[in-house]
Amino acid sequence: MTALEAAKPASRLYERVSRVIPPIEWPVFEADVEAILRLKGERGAIILAHNYQTPEIYHCVADVVGDSLMLAREAAKSDARVIVMAGVHFMAETAKLLNPSKTVLIPDADAGCSLAESISAEDIALMRQRYPGAPVVTYVNTSAEVKAASDICCTSANAVKVVESLGVPRVIMTPDEYLAKNVAARTHVEIIAWRGRCEVHERFTAADIRELREAHPGAIVLAHPECPPEVVAEADFAGSTADMIKYVGAKRPARVALVTECSMSDNVAVQYPDVEFVRPCGLCPHMKRITLKKIRHALETMEGEVTIDPAIAAPARRAVERMLAL
Ligand code: 13P
Ligand code: SF4
Repeated sequence: MTALEAAKPASRLYERVSRVIPPIEWPVFEADVEAILRLKGERGAIILAHNYQTPEIYHCVADVVGDSLMLAREAAKSDARVIVMAGVHFMAETAKLLNPSKTVLIPDADAGCSLAESISAEDIALMRQRYPGAPVVTYVNTSAEVKAASDICCTSANAVKVVESLGVPRVIMTPDEYLAKNVAARTHVEIIAWRGRCEVHERFTAADIRELREAHPGAIVLAHPECPPEVVAEADFAGSTADMIKYVGAKRPARVALVTECSMSDNVAVQYPDVEFVRPCGLCPHMKRITLKKIRHALETMEGEVTIDPAIAAPARRAVERMLAL
């Protein structure tokens, strides 16, 4: 968002979301949008928003939107005094790791992730004992402690590249079992998986995709690699949330189904009015904890600051920076 846009009255911003937010609902958001735009200026803050945030956050107050990889890169290079993460806790922690001198705020500290919950640093140590010599590739959807116990991080956008960059025949890949299996299908490197699952993507089935194709002939199906491998096998393309958006932008399918979190379709539909979105989605309760009101509250009070024990931060940062350097 440019400074000029930030100075627009919030009602002008309604044009951006009028396709997905009914006019009757807009007054509920308007005062908070207005206040957030003002507070960002006063605090020297930027808002980084994940692609799963609701449209009024994504289109009306965010400075940068993207997948986990993009948000990490943007956090690393930001010169804002304050970074507000409109996303889940691990994303805010990653921002703090990469730009430790900044104040990083998470509008709701309970915005977690089932994958991050599924593994501890002790579990990583046990995996290392069981598979000596195998490096540990850890999905960014984890706590700083787990990252600190790992050799390198990955996101859904770069997982195959990260695994192959290590030049070894076998790696441990945690915590997402399905991401690990989907990567294994695309590489000769042997992948030892953990048993974590995304509570949103694990629910999709191959039968759902077949039914969707029958009900919506010609729909192009894009799936997130946190989906079970049978779902990815039924899809036309699998990729990170940003890769799915790029696909829609580049190919402009007449009809598309994004097999992922619900807000993605709303957000992308605003950008591509010529594309029909079929919505076979699931809600992420953690992403949905972040609201305009909580973003406003964070900026008003500066509550929700993310801190990381320096002894954990140093090795965790190494694992994330090693990924970014690729
Ligand atoms: P992306 O990195 O693809 O945006 O995925 C993050 C996430 O939490 C997906 O569930
Ligand atoms: Fe975690 Fe899944 Fe929610 Fe993404 S969608 S934040 S992986 S629970």
